[in-house]
Amino acid sequence: MSTHMNRRQLLKTGALLTGGLGLLPTLATSALAHAPAESFHPLKVLETDESVLLSAPPEVKARLSANENPFGPSVKAKQAIQDAIAKSYQYPFMASRELISKISAYENIPAEQILLGAGSSPILLAAALYYSKDGGSVVTADPSYDDLPEKAEDFKARLIKVPLTADYHLDLDAMEKAIAADTKLVYICNPNNPTATALDTAKLRAFCERVSAKVPVFIDEAYIDYLDDPKAASMLDCVRNKQNVIIARTFSKLYGFAGLRVGYAVGPTATMRAISQYSNGGMSIAATSIQAAAVAYNDFEYLNAAKAKTVASKQFLYDVLKAEGYTWIPSAANFVMFPIKMEARKFGDEMMKRGVSIRTWKFAGKEWCRISIGTMEEMQAFANAFREIS
Ligand SMILES: Cc1ncc(COP(=O)(O)O)c(C=O)c1O
Repeated sequence: MSTHMNRRQLLKTGALLTGGLGLLPTLATSALAHAPAESFHPLKVLETDESVLLSAPPEVKARLSANENPFGPSVKAKQAIQDAIAKSYQYPFMASRELISKISAYENIPAEQILLGAGSSPILLAAALYYSKDGGSVVTADPSYDDLPEKAEDFKARLIKVPLTADYHLDLDAMEKAIAADTKLVYICNPNNPTATALDTAKLRAFCERVSAKVPVFIDEAYIDYLDDPKAASMLDCVRNKQNVIIARTFSKLYGFAGLRVGYAVGPTATMRAISQYSNGGMSIAATSIQAAAVAYNDFEYLNAAKAKTVASKQFLYDVLKAEGYTWIPSAANFVMFPIKMEARKFGDEMMKRGVSIRTWKFAGKEWCRISIGTMEEMQAFANAFREIS
C-alpha cells in the first residue's frame, strides 16, 4: 500500500518523518486500506501549511503561513489545562459531555446533532470518506480549502472545481449550476481560505435552502469567529430548519487552539450518525484540550480582545502594502491574500531566507502571497523582509 501513497498523504500522516507507516492514525490506515490503489495520484508534490513549516529553518522569526492565532490560548484555557492534568488518567467522557452541552445550549441544537473531533480536520476527513465511498462528485470552489475535497478525491470522488468571481468570492451561482447528477456533496468554505472573503449571508442562506433540497451542503466555518457577528453569519440556522446542511467549526483559529486540537460539526441527526462511523469523535481529544475548550467556549472577553489585536496587526499590514504600492483582497479573517510582483515560489523562498514563513498561490493569472496575521512583532519582521524584496 505504501507505494501508492502520495507525498501529501505521507506528510499529513507524519509517515515521512517517522520513516514508515507504523504511526499512521488508525482511522487513516483503515480508510486508506479501503481505497483502491488506482485512486491515488503518483507523487504530486504540493505545498501545504504543514510542508512550508516543516521546511522552515529553526530560527523562523515570523510564522505567518498556517493561519494560527498567536494571541491564544486564553489565560483561562491555560489554567484549565493545568487543572485537568491531575485527573488525566481518566477518559474525558464528562468533559466531552460538558462541551457538547455548552454548544447545544448556545446554538440551540440537540446534543445528538453535534460531533466532536480533534480539530475540524478529522471531521472533514470523515465527511470526505462518507460522501465519496460510492464514487460520484464533490463540488468545491477554486481556490478554496482543499482538505475535504482532496481527501474525497484520493478516495473515490471526482472533483468539480468552480473558479471564484472576479472579486475573489465563491461563485455560488456557478457552483449551483456545476452540480451534476452524481454530485454527493457541495463544499463551501466561509470565510474562504485562502482569499479571506466572506459570502453575503442572505445569499448563502438562500443557496443552502435551494441546494440542500437536492445535495448536502457542507459549510466550513473555521474562520466565522473573525466576523463582527458570527452568530448572524453562521448557517447553523439551516441546520435548525432541518435542511441537509453540515457545519464544521474549530477552536484552532480565534480560540488559539491549533496545537490543542478541538473542533466540532453540527448537522442533521442521521447525517451526523453516518459521518461519525468514520470518526472517533470526542475520544480522539486529550482531556486537557477538551477541558480547556469547555472553559474557553464563548469567552467573549478573550475572543474580542484577540480579534482587536488581529485587526490592529492587519491594519499595520495594509499600511505596509499600501506604502510599497501593493493591493490586497480585503480580509474577513486572520490572513490576507495579495498579488505579488515576483514568481510565487521565489517570493516564498526569499521571505523564508529572511526568517518569515508565508504561503504562495498562483490563480486568476497572478502570483499571490497569503500571509497570516501575527503579533505586531511578527508583522514588523514581515515588513522588514518585504521592503527588501518588494
Ligand atoms: C478552512 C479550514 N478548515 C479547517 C481547517 C482545519 O483546522 P483544524 O483541524 O485545526 O480545526 C483549516 C486549517 O487551516 C482551515 O483553514
